[in-house]
Amino acid sequence: MKAIVVTDQAAGTAGMTLVERSEPPAAINDVIVEVHASGFVPTEMEWPSTWTDRSERDRTPSIPGHELAGVVSALGYGTTGVSVGQRVLGLADWHRDGTLAEYVAIEARNLAPLPGDVDFTVGASLPISGLTAWQGLFDHGHLRAGQTLLAHGAAGAVGTMVTQLAREAGAYVIGTGRADDREKALEFGAHEFVDLDNDALEDVGRVDLVFDVIGGDIQKRSAGLIRAGGTLVTVVGPPEARPADGLAVDFVVESDRAQLSEIVKRVRDGRLRTNIGNVATLDDAVTALNPTERVTGKTVIRVRP
Ligand SMILES: NC(=O)c1ccc[n+]([C@@H]2O[C@H](COP(=O)([O-])OP(=O)(O)OC[C@H]3O[C@@H](n4cnc5c(N)ncnc54)[C@H](OP(=O)(O)O)[C@@H]3O)[C@@H](O)[C@H]2O)c1
Repeated sequence: MKAIVVTDQAAGTAGMTLVERSEPPAAINDVIVEVHASGFVPTEMEWPSTWTDRSERDRTPSIPGHELAGVVSALGYGTTGVSVGQRVLGLADWHRDGTLAEYVAIEARNLAPLPGDVDFTVGASLPISGLTAWQGLFDHGHLRAGQTLLAHGAAGAVGTMVTQLAREAGAYVIGTGRADDREKALEFGAHEFVDLDNDALEDVGRVDLVFDVIGGDIQKRSAGLIRAGGTLVTVVGPPEARPADGLAVDFVVESDRAQLSEIVKRVRDGRLRTNIGNVATLDDAVTALNPTERVTGKTVIRVRP
């Protein structure tokens, strides 16, 4: 099969090459999925799991990409919950070969059904950004109607999902980002927008929840805006700051079939719009994943036409 591999962490995405690899076998509880579309998060090259297995042994050349939409082509021993020929989407294990390939081996519990009227490209754009937003807002941030949310990077892949889900839940959403992101953030549902380069973040007043995708100084200043009892949720590493009278939580997104299905349901009925910046074929993936200009939104690789 054709696959994108990486071998050199220092080279980053520039070190990606398109090669011929053998198709993965289906181990116990595994599903082999014929990948139709694959999502990619640019920071994957910085994740230790891209380079090593769970025992920290070198696993290169490794196949990046952890989001997929495709069709089940084979089942391993004991696998239940999905069937051959079924359309699925899902989040692949961090420590295993990923989805920038024609086939991937993935545990059944990491997959959810993809209805026939949701395009594979859309399906592949949802797992990481959708589940991260859902888990950050509701599992970790315990967002409730009437609360105020500060959503950083609101025009990005995670941020647009955060904004839409929080609006639906009845929150007041203050989005942030770069000056060029204002229109997109408001279009995805932010009530207000703060240009982090030109506006004063502190002018937003008090908030109940901060959803941080940036870290550093922005995270530290945001912690100071949180009301008593509020929460800072960050997805960019251990918290560097804590609210004076509240919680700081960091987490790594986990696969969850029920939550994925809730996300897909919202895409089908129009409550949730995905944020795709670029779509390219597997043959053009290396170029597409090494953009020379700023791309906002997810890059999705269409593995099969
Ligand atoms: N822990 C987890 O489970 C998890 C899950 C998903 C994502 N993440 C992490 O979350 C981060 C965001 O992911 P994503 O897919 O949403 O990325 P993305 O699509 O690039 O969105 C991030 C947005 O924030 C903006 N931004 C970043 N730094 C900024 C700054 N200093 N001032 C103003 N705007 C800024 C970016 O603009 P520019 O492009 O111009 O910088 C971009 O619009 C990444 O670091 C990713 O690794 C973690």
